[in-house]
Amino acid sequence: MTDYIPTSQTHIPPGMIDLGVGDPDFALLPLDMLQRAAETCFAKNDPASLQYGTEQGHGYFRLALAEFLSQGYSFPVDFDNLFVTNGISNALDLICTHFTLPGDTIFVEDPTYFLALRIFEDHDLQMVPVQTNEDGLVIESLEEKLREFHPKFLYTVPTFQNPGGFTLPQDRRDKLVQLSQAHGFLIVADEVYHFLNYSGQQIKPFAAYTDLETIISLGSFSKILAPGLRLGWMQAHPNNIKRLTSSGLLDSGGGLNPFTSAIVRELIEAGDLKQNITSLIADYRSRLKVMGAALHRELPQAEFRTPEGGFFFWVRLRGMDTGQLRDAAREFNLGFRQGALFSSRGGMQDYIRLCFTFYDEEKIEEGIQRLNDCLNATSS
Ligand SMILES: Cc1ncc(COP(=O)(O)O)c(C=O)c1O
Repeated sequence: MTDYIPTSQTHIPPGMIDLGVGDPDFALLPLDMLQRAAETCFAKNDPASLQYGTEQGHGYFRLALAEFLSQGYSFPVDFDNLFVTNGISNALDLICTHFTLPGDTIFVEDPTYFLALRIFEDHDLQMVPVQTNEDGLVIESLEEKLREFHPKFLYTVPTFQNPGGFTLPQDRRDKLVQLSQAHGFLIVADEVYHFLNYSGQQIKPFAAYTDLETIISLGSFSKILAPGLRLGWMQAHPNNIKRLTSSGLLDSGGGLNPFTSAIVRELIEAGDLKQNITSLIADYRSRLKVMGAALHRELPQAEFRTPEGGFFFWVRLRGMDTGQLRDAAREFNLGFRQGALFSSRGGMQDYIRLCFTFYDEEKIEEGIQRLNDCLNATSS
């Protein structure tokens, strides 16, 4: 028997600081809130949540979620337009299954969330990269691609993007919606970081447009509560929801994650989700500041914009092959994600992605110091 028995996907060798890991800090996962919610749930003595779930997802959970979203977005969200998922990864897989065929073309941002690219590859989709700039997706690039291709959908992370950190301005959001209507393609908006907003600026999510059949908004509890819950939601037009609820998967297995939904319902109703987000924002805001200051101090040559939400700094080390740099960084017990991972065309080679949520301030400082040491060693 080995002496390491895995329980989480996050396994970092002792002594290593891996700023590539895009996960919440273990210390911030709210065991206490979930324990309380589970106790409230069990005290109700209702076996329904252990039965096969209703296809669209646990009704009282959707009601609680709709109430939370209505407050958070400042517009009403109807629980009937919510579909419960096992998280955004699962939602993307379901969308590929039910809205595409192998060989279909889809558009992705360049750069984009690299593990979404893996899901699209599983479905044999042809990915066409659309350019971004420091504000996100570039409309002219999209228009140019639309003259050549007819995509089934565009996958976008419009707010505090992974890895770029950028947020699409309102005029581009409106234009995107118009284009999806005019050309008949879906916009799959991954809004996973929407509530991790450190500047407090008002951002209108794509969820606001889901009365249109071309818009699907995806949300998740992974970054605002805990990824191990495998719980998320889709907000969409009833016709799109119907395509999923009438699937063989749900016919056989019932709705997704009814038991966890029943527990998280109690947590939301107790006000703990809101409370958890408030304390995450305070914590992450401080870590972000520390990483930004350390980057300015240790790496004056680095080009980056300080993000206003989410998990990541997207840093350009102009002219450098960051794949090679990542190999060299291992000697310094340091990890990060090299830019090319996030590009479906293999670009972005002189970028790195650094996560500021997994480690505390002290480790962040030390990690950036190691990066500086590594850069000095490779340039000498
Ligand atoms: C942009 C983006 N989408 C989706 C996910 C994964 O979400 P989930 O855990 O809900 O599958 C992540 C996680 O890092 C992410 O950054």
